[in-house]
Amino acid sequence: MLPKQEILQKLTGIHSSRKTYYAELAFLIEEMKKKNKQLEVINQLTKIQISASWQEVSSYIAAQLSLLIPFDSFALTLVKGSTLSSYISTLEQPEWRCQTLVKPVKHPPALGLDQLENVMQAAFPAHRFTSVSLRSHLNQVLGFLTLLHHGKQKADAEEVALFRLIAEHVGVAIENIILFQDVCEKVGLEAQLVQSAKMAAIGEMAAGIAHELNSPLTAILGNAQLLMREAASGPLHPLMKDIYQCGVRCKKIIQNLLTFSRQEEYAFECLALNDLIDDVLGLIGYQLAVSGIEIQQKRSSSTLSFHGSRHQIEQVLINLLLNARDALNGREHPQIIIETFLLEEEAAWVGLSIRDNGAGIQPEHLPQIFQPFFTTKESAKGTGLGLSVSLGITESHGGRLFAESERNRYSKFTLLLPFKKPKEDADGEETRAGCG
Ligand SMILES: Nc1ncnc2c1ncn2[C@@H]1O[C@H](COP(=O)(O)OP(=O)(O)OP(=O)(O)O)[C@@H](O)[C@H]1O
Ligand SMILES: [Mg+2]
Repeated sequence: MLPKQEILQKLTGIHSSRKTYYAELAFLIEEMKKKNKQLEVINQLTKIQISASWQEVSSYIAAQLSLLIPFDSFALTLVKGSTLSSYISTLEQPEWRCQTLVKPVKHPPALGLDQLENVMQAAFPAHRFTSVSLRSHLNQVLGFLTLLHHGKQKADAEEVALFRLIAEHVGVAIENIILFQDVCEKVGLEAQLVQSAKMAAIGEMAAGIAHELNSPLTAILGNAQLLMREAASGPLHPLMKDIYQCGVRCKKIIQNLLTFSRQEEYAFECLALNDLIDDVLGLIGYQLAVSGIEIQQKRSSSTLSFHGSRHQIEQVLINLLLNARDALNGREHPQIIIETFLLEEEAAWVGLSIRDNGAGIQPEHLPQIFQPFFTTKESAKGTGLGLSVSLGITESHGGRLFAESERNRYSKFTLLLPFKKPKEDADGEETRAGCG
């Protein structure tokens, strides 16, 4: 017969003397409780609501993770196109609060943990980070999970291993949410097609009207000029001058409408960014001025030349300026700052930023503003297409468009387009005829 000690060892798996037996048993029970808790949390994490917003998802994961691993804040980061969106949750008793950080990235497909941590370090300099990748079932990187620790302490090896295991399970849930959002976006895009057809019809109509107005306006301007000459020093001269100047403005608007609606004008050519700003301000500067908005310009002295479609880039500038105008509605000292610059990174970029001191964008809206049909304006005012069309145009030019904002303080949109050196003529002078 087996001795009692041996039977106990076989039954419990604990190899020890009788003295430490109870201590080891207690330890084993604790370990099992811990493992059960971990399984329970992992099980909960696979049940993330598919229709939840990313802020809600981040706070949910943070709440579950905090049952297993200590940390100060938690970040769910997703990589979409050339932007990195981090949803950072912190416990502010009694609930988890989430803030959003959106950053453009240089090499999205090859984005690694070190690049992510550089972004985090810049935003949270007093923290240390433990990050793991989030992968799809095809092993593609969807994003990252990060634990933020205030001060020196970081996750230990056992916690990192558990965090990695959890990320594997969360990856599946996140992939499902992304698929669900893609389907919703597809439905939205179908609606956008219908809307685009309507817009095209309106565009055609506007072009027709502009064409009709062009001839009578030419006659009005000609006659006004003749009368102005006749009443050169008379009391009617200022009135005639006013009629003439208003006529010139109307002509400019009509001309812009005409060129805007001509499809063949979408041909690419060598353009100077500063000239385009002048054209756009000629078109809508008056509208901004009557809204009481002060426009400040900080233009670069370099030649900001790029290869693109004049009318499409003008459309982007108009969309950004009109959005700024809307955001400034009812604000004190409304102001728009237009800045142009040359940005030399690995490649050279022609840059423009439009900053307003308006209502700002709510952090949870920031990742959505470029989606078709996302609008916070009443339906008669906004279609929610301005920024999605602008982003489409920018990307078709090989450029980038991104936003930053602080609620009730400012919004700033930055447009970057690949710089193209202008061709020089025989005397070494830059020409406007083409890019080098
Ligand atoms: N400068 C800004 N300040 C504050 N919010 C902005 C700014 N620009 C854009 N937004 C927000 O982004 C949303 C989407 O902008 P977008 O230009 O795509 O559509 P819209 O202006 O609402 O409608 P549309 O341009 O089609 O008339 C706006 O509804 C607004 O909430
Ligand atoms: Mg708009």
